[in-house]
Amino acid sequence: MVESATAQELKRRDRGVQRVLIEEGAIQQRVRELAADLDALYGDETPLLIGVLTGAVTFMTALMREMGSELKIDFMAVSSYGDDVTSSGAVRILKDLNENIEGRSVLIVEDIVDSGLTLKYLLDVLRRRDPKDVKVVALLRKRKADAIEVQTDLVGFEIPDEFVIGYGLDYAGRYRNLPYIGVLDPQEYQGYEK
Ligand code: PRP
Repeated sequence: MVESATAQELKRRDRGVQRVLIEEGAIQQRVRELAADLDALYGDETPLLIGVLTGAVTFMTALMREMGSELKIDFMAVSSYGDDVTSSGAVRILKDLNENIEGRSVLIVEDIVDSGLTLKYLLDVLRRRDPKDVKVVALLRKRKADAIEVQTDLVGFEIPDEFVIGYGLDYAGRYRNLPYIGVLDPQEYQGYEK
């Protein structure tokens, strides 16, 4: 049962959530800490924050509002081939940046690093454009034995290898508006290989 809904009828948005993994307040606290770390890292620079659509939107907007640095934002959309539950190998750009990043300090903002393939692809693509510096902040990183080694400068939470939803993360487009990170009830994705 979802703890944040115990005092009221379960909201439609929460249906299918097996349990809360990270409460809203804990996320807010960690986002403030990450923002402070990034402020210290960038000092007087004006980094370009690159949000990876769509899942990172919630984290990106929370993070940038907590940061005291002068900054700019842009978005990229990429797609990995695969079904709704598992990642596959190939990645392609669906929406590219509006900004030219040559000579600039850029920060990739990701909601989750799972297999690491999306992030590896993004890092390769962006580095070829000669930025001054590329860093990565991810709200979540899964503990997976078979994940590829990929640069992740700041991580909010290391999480177990479960199907997580909420705070931007979806299952088949749903659950992005949950204010917490939850674990999806496996019955919801029966038929898919985890
Ligand atoms: C998710 C997430 C990351 C990626 C991580 O995006 O936002 O970009 O998967 O997985 P990986 O480390 O295995 O590559 P998704 O493709 O589900 O798109 P979405 O953000 O639009 O939900």
